[in-house]
Amino acid sequence: MHKVRIVQKVRLAPVRERLRAIEDAGYNTFLLRTRDIFLDMLTDSGTNAMTDRQQAAMLMADDAYAGSESFYRLLDSVREVLGYQYLLPAHQGRAAEHLLAKTFVKPGHVIPMNYHFTTTKAHFNLAGGTVLELYAPEALNTQSSHPFKGNMDLGRLEAAIREAGPANVSFVRMEATTNLIGGQPFSLENLRQVKALIEPLGIFLVVDASLISENAYFIRQREPGYADKSVAQIVREIMDVADLCYLSGRKSCMVRGGLIATNRTDLHDAIRPWLPVYEGFFTYGGMSSKEIEAMAVGIREMTELEVAGSSADAIQYFVNLLLAKDVPVVTPPGGLACHLDAMRFIDHVPQTEYPAAALVAAVYLTSGIRGMERGTMSMDRDSEGNDVPSDLELVRLAVPRRVFTMSHYQYAADRLRWLYEHRKMIGGVEFYEEPPVLRFFAGRMRPKYDWATPLVEAFEKDFGTEM
Ligand code: F0G
Repeated sequence: MHKVRIVQKVRLAPVRERLRAIEDAGYNTFLLRTRDIFLDMLTDSGTNAMTDRQQAAMLMADDAYAGSESFYRLLDSVREVLGYQYLLPAHQGRAAEHLLAKTFVKPGHVIPMNYHFTTTKAHFNLAGGTVLELYAPEALNTQSSHPFKGNMDLGRLEAAIREAGPANVSFVRMEATTNLIGGQPFSLENLRQVKALIEPLGIFLVVDASLISENAYFIRQREPGYADKSVAQIVREIMDVADLCYLSGRKSCMVRGGLIATNRTDLHDAIRPWLPVYEGFFTYGGMSSKEIEAMAVGIREMTELEVAGSSADAIQYFVNLLLAKDVPVVTPPGGLACHLDAMRFIDHVPQTEYPAAALVAAVYLTSGIRGMERGTMSMDRDSEGNDVPSDLELVRLAVPRRVFTMSHYQYAADRLRWLYEHRKMIGGVEFYEEPPVLRFFAGRMRPKYDWATPLVEAFEKDFGTEM
């Protein structure tokens, strides 16, 4: 599959240093410095191990403001892998979302989707639209064996379109392995049903393909009739159903960048004028030529079976270790991370005290592992200023592709079991600095009472002061 040829040193700061670091960071793991982090599981975004071929391609970059050959190499890859003729590069996924919002989302519109992502919702709301999450009930069951918790509920979709009127629906968005509910895939059957429902109404289908190779990998594993198809064939089938896709190149493609692609001339022509306004000229869209070259390679490599499955298989291993230790995690294992279920892990902390935010800080304190809060802290307040309780309170321990080894997951599982045994020591947190939009990035919090010091003392009793 692959071997490791370049390594990066990491350091485990002792627990007292970690206490100081998380206090300085306002109990927000986004505000930690990497020098204080042992295993960085914040995200799988832009943190994957690139291949020698990607690195080599970067040396071939053709730096030109306009007409770069690097762009045409990416265009060839997009045409071959996605089957789309038109390519609009963007500097990352949210930039693509901004262009879609600018072009298609009008005040009063609704945008049905299988689940929102933070940046998606922010852009669509800023354009005056309302995001409708039309998942089936199983999606929010964290202890499930349902293979496709990312499917859309067709009955709810039909009702939502009827209520809004088709003219007020910007488009329907399906996110490949719905990030915020645990990286759960949709099935091709469901995608086809969604398309069949909206096409006669003149509504187009957008796929957020940031984690497309993982979704395709799950379809191959879980959907009847796909076991003998290649990941590349399944990716093409998804794209054949969709009208347009956009993606963050930081995940499946294993670079840093983004794009929009389609075969629909009308959609392409509507977006295109905005590209040089917000991103950059048509042939770079805010990406460096080096990243464009690496993406041209990465987008092909992501369809290799062992590459598409590299994080999915590691996540399954990690989740199974935790299940064996009775630590509450989201099942089935998904596509970008192992997710701790904070509402079950610390069921004594109410949602008003941000259990996922408290737990992610406690995980850092007792392991040096940086995860990400994916709960109420990641939801912005409503227009009246009220907190919006999140459907789920998750701590995401992301699995960047090809970065960690099995012993890293074993270390994580051991520390998480220790924390689970000491879970009653964890208390809630509250904001003392709160930005108005995407508050989880820069907001600062503090414990409701000092529960961190006793937790650190208990840790030192079992592990000493050096760990
Ligand atoms: N769509 C999905 C499904 C994503 O997961 C992300 C980013 C975006 C869009 C936005 O892309 O970061 O390139 O601007 N997810 C990152 C994460 C931030 O950590 O899960 P971006």
